[in-house]
Amino acid sequence: MRAQRTARPADLDQVRESYDRVADNYVHMVLTTGIGDIRRDPWLKASIDAFADSVGELGPVLDVGCGPGTVTGYLAERGLEVSGVDLSPRMVENARRLYPECRFEVASATELDLADASLGGVLGWWSLFNLPRDVLPGVLASFVRALRPGGYFLTGTHVGDGDLARTEAYGGVPVRWTTYRWRPEPYVALIERAGLRPVAELRLPAGEHTGPGLVVMARKPD
Ligand SMILES: C[S@@+](CC[C@H](N)C(=O)[O-])C[C@H]1O[C@@H](n2cnc3c(N)ncnc32)[C@H](O)[C@@H]1O
Repeated sequence: MRAQRTARPADLDQVRESYDRVADNYVHMVLTTGIGDIRRDPWLKASIDAFADSVGELGPVLDVGCGPGTVTGYLAERGLEVSGVDLSPRMVENARRLYPECRFEVASATELDLADASLGGVLGWWSLFNLPRDVLPGVLASFVRALRPGGYFLTGTHVGDGDLARTEAYGGVPVRWTTYRWRPEPYVALIERAGLRPVAELRLPAGEHTGPGLVVMARKPD
């Protein structure tokens, strides 16, 4: 094992407290409306399936920013060796309750202790958009070090221009976090600069309940 600490975002505690506050509403939304449930969205499900098929038996998968474990649980059902990690203790409590067969830990993406070349896949599924623009490259680099050669990274994120200061979310719950929106080209370029080769990009227009999104899958060279 080696420490792979990157710069600590100045607002990390605020972000954690905010997700703790919205966690129960977030779970309720996923379970009752299907928003955020990849099983209910054919394109998101296809992305996760493509990731799962590609990782196969390359090695364990880590779902970083797993929230209540929706994707972690789905990948486990598909037979992958997968665990989840999230900044918010309340999200992790929900994940453990909903998917008791999976292992979940509380930690920030910026403070993961991952062994080099230990993972077949890493997910940053709508969970890296709170990382400041100067912090994200270090986090991506830590993922690349943790991936085995040929391993896969799958990410989904919000598309747009500039930074959005959120003051409420998921049913009017007060929060304090910044959503760093990315244009697709610079986001993909960042992933390439971290040392990965893009495999696929999926652009999602804004929907009834969600803004525009981007899914990128990338592979660590052999
Ligand atoms: C929109 S939710 C998505 C959760 C999950 N990936 C899903 O698709 O349901 C964003 C998640 O990212 C987590 N998160 C935010 N910043 C994080 C960080 N620095 N490290 C780990 N998780 C983080 C939040 O706690 C929250 O659970």
